[in-house]
Amino acid sequence: MLTDETKTQLIQAASDARQWAYAPYSNYPVGAALLTASGRVYDGVNVESAAYPTTMCAERVTIYKAVSEGERNFVALAVVTANGGSPCGSCRQVLAEFGLDTLVVVADAEGKIVGEMTVGELLPGAFRPEDLLK
Ligand code: THU
Repeated sequence: MLTDETKTQLIQAASDARQWAYAPYSNYPVGAALLTASGRVYDGVNVESAAYPTTMCAERVTIYKAVSEGERNFVALAVVTANGGSPCGSCRQVLAEFGLDTLVVVADAEGKIVGEMTVGELLPGAFRPEDLLK
């Protein structure tokens, strides 16, 4: 369970990070903040490229930052966009790699929560590490 205070702090961290989004092509800046079981908060933004397909979403930048620091257990991810856009399919898949119970909180630029769901709810039937062992 995430307290309302922690949720608000996570949304604020994602909102603060959003200013660093590199989104000159879409003009759709995204900020994300990830709370890990160790109690740390990692943030990230979308990073676009003139070679469009090499763009990386804010969620994955954030997850990769955390994983590259040794984190593996995620409690909650907040995502902030202008209009409360939801994580894309690729980001859902990467989230699912690390657990289906991570809470995803989607908020708009005013910090208003427009969606709140677990990774398992976001990606039913996810292909997971154990599927490689079957
Ligand atoms: N974007 C994200 O950062 N996260 C998502 O889940 C959806 C899309 C970014 C990618 C691109 O820089 C911009 O938003 C428009 O698609």
